[in-house]
Amino acid sequence: MRMVDVIEKKRDGGSLSDEEIQYFIEGITDGSIPDYQASALLMSVFFKDMDEQERATLTMAMVDSGDRIDLSGIEGTLVDKHSTGGVGDTTTLILGPLVAACGVPVAKMSGRGLGHTGGTLDKLESITGFHIELTEQQFRDQVNRLKLAVIGQSGNLTPADKKLYALRDVTATVNSIPLIASSIMSKKIAAGADAIVLDVKTGEGAFMKTDEDARRLAEAMVGIGNAVGRRTLAVISDMSQPLGYAVGNALEVKEAIATLKGEGPEDLTHLCVELGSRMVVAGGKAETLEEGADLIRGVLEDGSALRLFRSFIEAQGGDPEIVDHPDRLPAAKEIVSVRAEQEGFVQTIGADDIGVAAMHLGAGRATKDEEIDLGVGIVLKKKVGDRVAKGEPIADVHTNGRGTDTAVSMILEHVLIGAERIAPPPLIHGDIQ
Ligand code: URA
Ligand code: CA
Repeated sequence: MRMVDVIEKKRDGGSLSDEEIQYFIEGITDGSIPDYQASALLMSVFFKDMDEQERATLTMAMVDSGDRIDLSGIEGTLVDKHSTGGVGDTTTLILGPLVAACGVPVAKMSGRGLGHTGGTLDKLESITGFHIELTEQQFRDQVNRLKLAVIGQSGNLTPADKKLYALRDVTATVNSIPLIASSIMSKKIAAGADAIVLDVKTGEGAFMKTDEDARRLAEAMVGIGNAVGRRTLAVISDMSQPLGYAVGNALEVKEAIATLKGEGPEDLTHLCVELGSRMVVAGGKAETLEEGADLIRGVLEDGSALRLFRSFIEAQGGDPEIVDHPDRLPAAKEIVSVRAEQEGFVQTIGADDIGVAAMHLGAGRATKDEEIDLGVGIVLKKKVGDRVAKGEPIADVHTNGRGTDTAVSMILEHVLIGAERIAPPPLIHGDIQ
Protein backbone atom coordinates (compact mmCIF):
# COMPACT_ATOMS: atom_id res chain seq x y z
CA MET A 1 0.00 0.00 0.00
CA ARG A 2 1.21 3.52 -0.71
CA MET A 3 0.29 6.49 1.47
CA VAL A 4 0.01 8.76 -1.60
CA ASP A 5 -2.86 6.61 -2.91
CA VAL A 6 -4.66 6.78 0.42
CA ILE A 7 -4.35 10.58 0.42
CA GLU A 8 -5.57 10.81 -3.16
CA LYS A 9 -8.61 8.66 -2.44
CA LYS A 10 -9.69 10.81 0.50
CA ARG A 11 -8.82 14.03 -1.34
CA ASP A 12 -11.32 12.99 -4.03
CA GLY A 13 -14.01 12.20 -1.47
CA GLY A 14 -13.72 8.41 -1.37
CA SER A 15 -14.30 6.17 1.65
CA LEU A 16 -11.15 4.57 3.04
CA SER A 17 -11.19 0.83 3.66
CA ASP A 18 -10.42 -0.67 7.07
CA GLU A 19 -7.00 -1.76 5.75
CA GLU A 20 -6.17 1.75 4.54
CA ILE A 21 -7.08 3.32 7.87
CA GLN A 22 -5.14 0.68 9.82
CA TYR A 23 -2.13 1.18 7.55
CA PHE A 24 -2.25 4.92 8.24
CA ILE A 25 -2.53 4.54 12.03
CA GLU A 26 0.19 1.88 12.21
CA GLY A 27 2.47 4.11 10.14
CA ILE A 28 1.79 7.08 12.40
CA THR A 29 2.50 5.00 15.48
CA ASP A 30 5.79 3.49 14.26
CA GLY A 31 6.88 6.71 12.57
CA SER A 32 7.11 5.23 9.05
CA ILE A 33 4.62 7.73 7.61
CA PRO A 34 6.15 11.22 7.49
CA ASP A 35 4.34 14.19 8.97
CA TYR A 36 3.76 15.83 5.58
CA GLN A 37 1.78 12.86 4.29
CA ALA A 38 -0.13 12.49 7.54
CA SER A 39 -0.94 16.21 7.42
CA ALA A 40 -2.20 15.95 3.86
CA LEU A 41 -4.53 13.13 4.84
CA LEU A 42 -5.77 15.03 7.90
CA MET A 43 -6.56 18.05 5.71
CA SER A 44 -8.39 15.80 3.24
CA VAL A 45 -10.47 14.39 6.10
CA PHE A 46 -11.13 17.93 7.29
CA PHE A 47 -12.69 18.79 3.91
CA LYS A 48 -14.22 15.46 2.85
CA ASP A 49 -15.35 14.02 6.22
CA MET A 50 -15.56 10.31 7.07
CA ASP A 51 -18.55 7.98 7.03
CA GLU A 52 -19.66 5.94 10.06
CA GLN A 53 -17.61 2.90 9.14
CA GLU A 54 -14.44 4.97 8.66
CA ARG A 55 -14.94 6.74 11.98
CA ALA A 56 -15.41 3.47 13.86
CA THR A 57 -12.37 1.89 12.22
CA LEU A 58 -10.23 4.95 12.91
CA THR A 59 -11.28 4.92 16.57
CA MET A 60 -10.45 1.25 17.11
CA ALA A 61 -7.17 1.55 15.19
CA MET A 62 -6.14 4.32 17.59
CA VAL A 63 -7.21 2.16 20.57
CA ASP A 64 -5.04 -0.67 19.19
CA SER A 65 -2.05 1.65 18.73
CA GLY A 66 -1.19 1.39 22.45
CA ASP A 67 -2.01 -0.23 25.78
CA ARG A 68 -5.47 -0.85 27.11
CA ILE A 69 -6.28 -0.75 30.78
CA ASP A 70 -7.26 -4.22 31.91
CA LEU A 71 -10.33 -3.91 34.08
CA SER A 72 -11.55 -7.42 33.47
CA GLY A 73 -11.61 -8.28 37.19
CA ILE A 74 -14.29 -5.69 37.85
CA GLU A 75 -17.88 -6.81 38.25
CA GLY A 76 -20.62 -4.99 36.34
CA THR A 77 -20.77 -2.68 33.35
CA LEU A 78 -18.12 0.02 33.57
CA VAL A 79 -19.58 3.37 32.62
CA ASP A 80 -17.39 6.34 31.92
CA LYS A 81 -18.40 9.96 31.41
CA HIS A 82 -16.70 12.55 29.27
CA SER A 83 -17.32 16.28 29.14
CA THR A 84 -15.98 18.26 26.22
CA GLY A 85 -14.31 21.17 27.95
CA GLY A 86 -16.21 23.66 29.98
CA VAL A 87 -15.43 26.06 32.79
CA GLY A 88 -15.80 25.22 36.47
CA ASP A 89 -17.20 21.81 35.59
CA THR A 90 -17.31 19.87 38.83
CA THR A 91 -19.65 17.13 37.61
CA THR A 92 -17.10 14.29 37.71
CA LEU A 93 -16.56 14.68 41.47
CA ILE A 94 -20.29 14.53 42.10
CA LEU A 95 -21.27 11.89 39.56
CA GLY A 96 -18.72 9.35 40.79
CA PRO A 97 -20.37 8.90 44.21
CA LEU A 98 -23.92 9.34 42.83
CA VAL A 99 -23.61 6.64 40.22
CA ALA A 100 -21.54 4.31 42.43
CA ALA A 101 -24.20 4.58 45.15
CA CYS A 102 -26.68 3.27 42.55
CA GLY A 103 -24.47 0.18 42.14
CA VAL A 104 -22.78 1.12 38.85
CA PRO A 105 -18.98 0.71 39.04
CA VAL A 106 -16.93 3.84 38.34
CA ALA A 107 -13.27 3.10 37.61
CA LYS A 108 -11.91 6.46 36.70
CA MET A 109 -8.56 7.17 35.17
CA SER A 110 -7.94 10.85 35.38
CA GLY A 111 -5.37 13.32 34.16
CA ARG A 112 -4.09 16.65 35.33
CA GLY A 113 -5.31 18.59 32.37
CA LEU A 114 -4.24 21.98 31.17
CA GLY A 115 -6.60 24.87 31.39
CA HIS A 116 -8.52 27.25 33.59
CA THR A 117 -8.52 25.02 36.62
CA GLY A 118 -6.83 21.73 37.27
CA GLY A 119 -8.20 18.34 36.28
CA THR A 120 -10.19 16.04 38.55
CA LEU A 121 -6.91 14.78 40.03
CA ASP A 122 -5.77 18.22 41.10
CA LYS A 123 -9.14 18.86 42.66
CA LEU A 124 -9.03 15.59 44.62
CA GLU A 125 -5.49 16.28 45.75
CA SER A 126 -6.68 19.42 47.49
CA ILE A 127 -7.97 16.94 50.08
CA THR A 128 -5.15 16.35 52.62
CA GLY A 129 -3.55 12.94 52.18
CA PHE A 130 -5.55 11.92 49.10
CA HIS A 131 -3.44 9.96 46.66
CA ILE A 132 -4.01 8.38 43.28
CA GLU A 133 -1.08 5.99 43.20
CA LEU A 134 -2.91 2.66 43.35
CA THR A 135 -1.66 -0.58 41.85
CA GLU A 136 -3.99 -2.06 39.24
CA GLN A 137 -4.91 -4.75 41.78
CA GLN A 138 -5.75 -2.18 44.48
CA PHE A 139 -7.73 -0.21 41.93
CA ARG A 140 -9.80 -3.24 40.90
CA ASP A 141 -10.35 -4.30 44.53
CA GLN A 142 -11.53 -0.84 45.53
CA VAL A 143 -13.95 -0.64 42.61
CA ASN A 144 -15.41 -4.02 43.55
CA ARG A 145 -15.71 -3.02 47.21
CA LEU A 146 -16.88 0.61 46.96
CA LYS A 147 -17.83 0.88 43.26
CA LEU A 148 -15.59 3.94 43.01
CA ALA A 149 -11.86 4.53 42.57
CA VAL A 150 -9.71 7.10 40.80
CA ILE A 151 -6.26 6.38 39.51
CA GLY A 152 -3.68 8.54 37.73
CA GLN A 153 -2.90 8.05 34.08
CA SER A 154 -0.52 5.18 33.45
CA GLY A 155 0.48 3.06 30.48
CA ASN A 156 0.93 4.12 26.91
CA LEU A 157 -2.67 4.81 25.90
CA THR A 158 -3.56 5.78 22.31
CA PRO A 159 -0.10 6.97 21.17
CA ALA A 160 -1.48 7.46 17.64
CA ASP A 161 -3.95 10.00 19.00
CA LYS A 162 -1.16 11.89 20.77
CA LYS A 163 0.84 12.17 17.55
CA LEU A 164 -2.16 13.08 15.43
CA TYR A 165 -3.39 15.65 17.92
CA ALA A 166 0.00 17.38 17.94
CA LEU A 167 -0.01 17.46 14.13
CA ARG A 168 -3.59 18.71 13.98
CA ASP A 169 -2.70 21.49 16.36
CA VAL A 170 -0.14 22.94 13.92
CA THR A 171 -1.99 22.20 10.66
CA ALA A 172 -5.36 23.82 11.44
CA THR A 173 -7.17 20.48 11.47
CA VAL A 174 -8.25 20.23 15.11
CA ASN A 175 -11.76 21.36 14.37
CA SER A 176 -12.98 18.35 12.40
CA ILE A 177 -15.94 16.31 13.68
CA PRO A 178 -14.63 12.83 12.69
CA LEU A 179 -11.17 13.64 14.09
CA ILE A 180 -12.43 15.05 17.39
CA ALA A 181 -14.98 12.26 17.84
CA SER A 182 -12.50 9.43 17.17
CA SER A 183 -9.89 11.08 19.40
CA ILE A 184 -12.20 11.33 22.40
CA MET A 185 -13.81 7.91 21.93
CA SER A 186 -10.49 6.10 21.47
CA LYS A 187 -9.23 7.40 24.82
CA LYS A 188 -12.40 6.33 26.66
CA ILE A 189 -12.33 2.86 25.14
CA ALA A 190 -8.60 2.37 25.81
CA ALA A 191 -9.27 3.35 29.44
CA GLY A 192 -11.66 0.39 29.71
CA ALA A 193 -15.15 1.85 29.30
CA ASP A 194 -17.93 -0.63 28.49
CA ALA A 195 -20.43 2.21 28.11
CA ILE A 196 -20.00 5.95 27.72
CA VAL A 197 -22.05 9.01 28.61
CA LEU A 198 -21.06 12.24 26.88
CA ASP A 199 -21.69 15.78 27.98
CA VAL A 200 -21.11 17.92 24.92
CA LYS A 201 -20.95 21.56 25.89
CA THR A 202 -22.31 24.29 23.70
CA GLY A 203 -21.90 28.05 23.88
CA GLU A 204 -19.33 30.73 24.44
CA GLY A 205 -17.21 28.77 26.93
CA ALA A 206 -17.21 25.55 24.88
CA PHE A 207 -15.27 23.93 22.08
CA MET A 208 -18.45 23.90 20.00
CA LYS A 209 -19.90 27.39 19.86
CA THR A 210 -23.28 26.53 18.32
CA ASP A 211 -25.96 23.95 19.10
CA GLU A 212 -25.74 22.65 15.56
CA ASP A 213 -22.00 21.88 15.81
CA ALA A 214 -22.45 20.39 19.28
CA ARG A 215 -25.19 18.12 17.96
CA ARG A 216 -23.04 16.97 15.04
CA LEU A 217 -20.19 16.12 17.41
CA ALA A 218 -22.51 14.32 19.84
CA GLU A 219 -24.10 12.31 17.02
CA ALA A 220 -20.67 11.39 15.68
CA MET A 221 -19.54 10.05 19.07
CA VAL A 222 -22.78 8.19 19.76
CA GLY A 223 -22.50 6.68 16.25
CA ILE A 224 -18.96 5.47 16.91
CA GLY A 225 -19.76 4.08 20.37
CA ASN A 226 -22.73 2.10 19.18
CA ALA A 227 -20.84 0.84 16.11
CA VAL A 228 -18.05 -0.58 18.30
CA GLY A 229 -20.27 -2.18 20.92
CA ARG A 230 -20.11 0.47 23.66
CA ARG A 231 -23.53 1.77 24.56
CA THR A 232 -23.23 5.54 24.26
CA LEU A 233 -25.64 8.33 25.21
CA ALA A 234 -25.11 12.07 25.01
CA VAL A 235 -26.55 15.32 26.23
CA ILE A 236 -25.80 18.75 24.89
CA SER A 237 -25.50 21.15 27.80
CA ASP A 238 -25.14 24.87 28.17
CA MET A 239 -21.72 26.47 28.60
CA SER A 240 -22.73 30.03 27.82
CA GLN A 241 -21.96 30.73 31.48
CA PRO A 242 -19.91 28.75 34.02
CA LEU A 243 -21.63 25.76 35.59
CA GLY A 244 -22.44 26.32 39.25
CA TYR A 245 -20.80 29.26 41.00
CA ALA A 246 -17.28 28.11 41.84
CA VAL A 247 -14.28 28.15 39.49
CA GLY A 248 -11.13 26.90 41.22
CA ASN A 249 -9.87 23.63 42.64
CA ALA A 250 -10.65 23.49 46.39
CA LEU A 251 -13.59 25.83 45.74
CA GLU A 252 -15.05 23.28 43.34
CA VAL A 253 -14.51 20.45 45.82
CA LYS A 254 -16.53 22.49 48.33
CA GLU A 255 -19.23 23.00 45.72
CA ALA A 256 -19.24 19.26 45.00
CA ILE A 257 -19.64 18.42 48.70
CA ALA A 258 -22.48 20.94 49.00
CA THR A 259 -24.16 19.35 45.98
CA LEU A 260 -23.86 15.85 47.46
CA LYS A 261 -25.54 17.28 50.59
CA GLY A 262 -28.42 18.51 48.42
CA GLU A 263 -27.36 22.11 48.90
CA GLY A 264 -25.60 22.71 45.60
CA PRO A 265 -26.33 25.17 42.79
CA GLU A 266 -29.48 24.34 40.87
CA ASP A 267 -27.84 24.06 37.43
CA LEU A 268 -25.02 21.82 38.65
CA THR A 269 -27.45 19.56 40.52
CA HIS A 270 -29.77 19.37 37.52
CA LEU A 271 -26.94 18.45 35.13
CA CYS A 272 -25.69 15.76 37.54
CA VAL A 273 -29.17 14.20 37.63
CA GLU A 274 -29.36 14.28 33.81
CA LEU A 275 -25.92 12.73 33.34
CA GLY A 276 -26.24 10.37 36.29
CA SER A 277 -29.55 8.96 35.05
CA ARG A 278 -27.92 8.19 31.69
CA MET A 279 -24.97 6.51 33.38
CA VAL A 280 -27.31 4.35 35.44
CA VAL A 281 -29.22 3.36 32.30
CA ALA A 282 -25.97 2.68 30.39
CA GLY A 283 -24.79 0.60 33.37
CA GLY A 284 -27.93 -1.53 33.20
CA LYS A 285 -29.36 -0.50 36.60
CA ALA A 286 -32.41 1.28 35.16
CA GLU A 287 -34.56 0.77 32.10
CA THR A 288 -35.60 4.34 31.43
CA LEU A 289 -34.14 7.79 32.05
CA GLU A 290 -37.02 8.53 34.45
CA GLU A 291 -36.18 5.44 36.50
CA GLY A 292 -32.51 6.42 36.40
CA ALA A 293 -33.27 9.94 37.57
CA ASP A 294 -35.35 8.56 40.47
CA LEU A 295 -32.43 6.36 41.55
CA ILE A 296 -29.99 9.28 41.41
CA ARG A 297 -32.32 11.59 43.35
CA GLY A 298 -32.83 8.79 45.88
CA VAL A 299 -29.12 8.38 46.72
CA LEU A 300 -28.77 12.15 46.86
CA GLU A 301 -31.67 12.61 49.25
CA ASP A 302 -30.97 9.67 51.58
CA GLY A 303 -27.32 10.66 52.03
CA SER A 304 -25.88 7.42 50.65
CA ALA A 305 -23.93 9.17 47.87
CA LEU A 306 -22.35 11.49 50.45
CA ARG A 307 -21.45 8.52 52.67
CA LEU A 308 -19.89 6.80 49.68
CA PHE A 309 -17.85 9.91 48.88
CA ARG A 310 -16.54 9.85 52.45
CA SER A 311 -15.54 6.16 52.22
CA PHE A 312 -13.90 6.81 48.86
CA ILE A 313 -11.76 9.64 50.27
CA GLU A 314 -10.78 7.47 53.23
CA ALA A 315 -9.91 4.50 50.99
CA GLN A 316 -7.49 6.64 49.02
CA GLY A 317 -5.75 8.07 52.09
CA GLY A 318 -7.60 11.38 52.30
CA ASP A 319 -9.10 13.08 55.33
CA PRO A 320 -12.81 12.13 55.30
CA GLU A 321 -13.57 14.84 57.89
CA ILE A 322 -13.49 17.45 55.11
CA VAL A 323 -17.00 16.27 54.21
CA ASP A 324 -18.25 17.74 57.50
CA HIS A 325 -15.61 20.49 57.63
CA PRO A 326 -15.05 21.77 54.10
CA ASP A 327 -13.32 24.79 55.67
CA ARG A 328 -10.33 22.49 56.23
CA LEU A 329 -9.66 22.48 52.47
CA PRO A 330 -6.89 24.78 51.21
CA ALA A 331 -8.11 28.38 51.24
CA ALA A 332 -6.76 31.60 49.78
CA LYS A 333 -5.44 34.26 52.15
CA GLU A 334 -7.75 36.99 50.96
CA ILE A 335 -11.25 37.34 49.52
CA VAL A 336 -11.92 40.41 47.38
CA SER A 337 -15.54 41.21 46.68
CA VAL A 338 -16.33 42.44 43.16
CA ARG A 339 -19.33 44.79 43.08
CA ALA A 340 -21.70 45.74 40.28
CA GLU A 341 -20.99 49.15 38.75
CA GLN A 342 -24.61 49.57 37.66
CA GLU A 343 -28.02 48.10 38.34
CA GLY A 344 -29.94 45.86 35.97
CA PHE A 345 -30.04 42.23 34.92
CA VAL A 346 -27.12 39.95 34.17
CA GLN A 347 -27.12 39.58 30.38
CA THR A 348 -24.13 37.27 29.88
CA ILE A 349 -21.28 35.80 31.90
CA GLY A 350 -18.38 35.04 29.58
CA ALA A 351 -17.54 31.50 30.72
CA ASP A 352 -14.20 31.40 28.99
CA ASP A 353 -13.21 34.81 30.36
CA ILE A 354 -14.09 33.83 33.93
CA GLY A 355 -11.95 30.72 33.42
CA VAL A 356 -9.03 32.83 32.19
CA ALA A 357 -9.48 35.19 35.15
CA ALA A 358 -9.20 32.18 37.50
CA MET A 359 -6.07 31.14 35.69
CA HIS A 360 -4.50 34.55 36.32
CA LEU A 361 -5.03 33.89 40.03
CA GLY A 362 -3.09 30.62 39.68
CA ALA A 363 -6.01 28.13 39.60
CA GLY A 364 -4.91 26.49 36.34
CA ARG A 365 -1.80 25.69 34.38
CA ALA A 366 -0.79 26.52 30.81
CA THR A 367 2.02 23.95 30.61
CA LYS A 368 2.13 20.59 32.29
CA ASP A 369 4.93 21.40 34.73
CA GLU A 370 3.32 24.47 36.27
CA GLU A 371 2.18 24.40 39.89
CA ILE A 372 -1.44 25.04 40.70
CA ASP A 373 -2.57 27.17 43.62
CA LEU A 374 -5.35 24.95 44.98
CA GLY A 375 -7.04 27.52 47.19
CA VAL A 376 -7.57 30.35 44.71
CA GLY A 377 -10.42 30.99 42.29
CA ILE A 378 -13.68 32.79 41.73
CA VAL A 379 -17.08 32.31 43.30
CA LEU A 380 -19.79 33.99 41.27
CA LYS A 381 -22.80 35.38 43.10
CA LYS A 382 -25.10 35.71 40.11
CA LYS A 383 -26.35 33.77 37.09
CA VAL A 384 -27.59 35.05 33.74
CA GLY A 385 -31.03 36.59 34.18
CA ASP A 386 -30.53 37.57 37.86
CA ARG A 387 -31.35 41.10 39.00
CA VAL A 388 -28.45 43.12 40.45
CA ALA A 389 -28.39 46.38 42.41
CA LYS A 390 -25.59 48.87 41.95
CA GLY A 391 -22.82 48.04 44.45
CA GLU A 392 -24.12 44.52 45.07
CA PRO A 393 -21.45 41.76 45.08
CA ILE A 394 -21.35 39.85 41.79
CA ALA A 395 -18.33 37.67 42.61
CA ASP A 396 -15.74 36.86 45.25
CA VAL A 397 -12.14 36.61 44.14
CA HIS A 398 -10.18 34.18 46.34
CA THR A 399 -6.56 35.21 45.98
CA ASN A 400 -3.08 34.77 47.35
CA GLY A 401 -2.00 38.06 45.80
CA ARG A 402 -1.21 36.98 42.26
CA GLY A 403 -3.34 38.35 39.40
CA THR A 404 -5.98 39.94 41.62
CA ASP A 405 -6.41 43.20 39.70
CA THR A 406 -6.54 41.40 36.35
CA ALA A 407 -9.17 38.98 37.66
CA VAL A 408 -11.30 41.77 39.12
CA SER A 409 -11.25 43.81 35.92
CA MET A 410 -11.99 40.74 33.78
CA ILE A 411 -15.02 39.92 35.95
CA LEU A 412 -16.30 43.51 35.68
CA GLU A 413 -15.85 43.38 31.93
CA HIS A 414 -17.36 39.95 31.31
CA VAL A 415 -20.31 39.87 33.69
CA LEU A 416 -22.45 42.08 31.50
CA ILE A 417 -25.24 43.98 33.21
CA GLY A 418 -27.99 45.68 31.21
CA ALA A 419 -31.48 47.05 31.61
CA GLU A 420 -33.22 44.33 29.64
CA ARG A 421 -34.92 41.59 31.63
CA ILE A 422 -33.82 38.28 30.14
CA ALA A 423 -34.69 34.65 30.71
CA PRO A 424 -31.95 32.28 31.96
CA PRO A 425 -30.65 30.04 29.16
CA PRO A 426 -31.89 26.43 29.15
CA LEU A 427 -29.40 23.98 30.67
CA ILE A 428 -30.03 21.04 28.34
CA HIS A 429 -29.97 21.81 24.62
CA GLY A 430 -30.29 18.32 23.27
CA ASP A 431 -30.34 14.59 23.96
CA ILE A 432 -28.89 11.92 21.68
CA GLN A 433 -29.21 8.17 22.19
N1 URA B 1 -10.33 16.70 22.80
C1 URA B 1 -9.74 15.57 22.42
O1 URA B 1 -9.44 14.71 23.25
N2 URA B 1 -9.48 15.37 21.12
C2 URA B 1 -9.78 16.27 20.19
O2 URA B 1 -9.53 16.02 19.03
C3 URA B 1 -10.39 17.47 20.60
C4 URA B 1 -10.65 17.66 21.92
CA1 CA C 1 -18.50 25.15 39.21
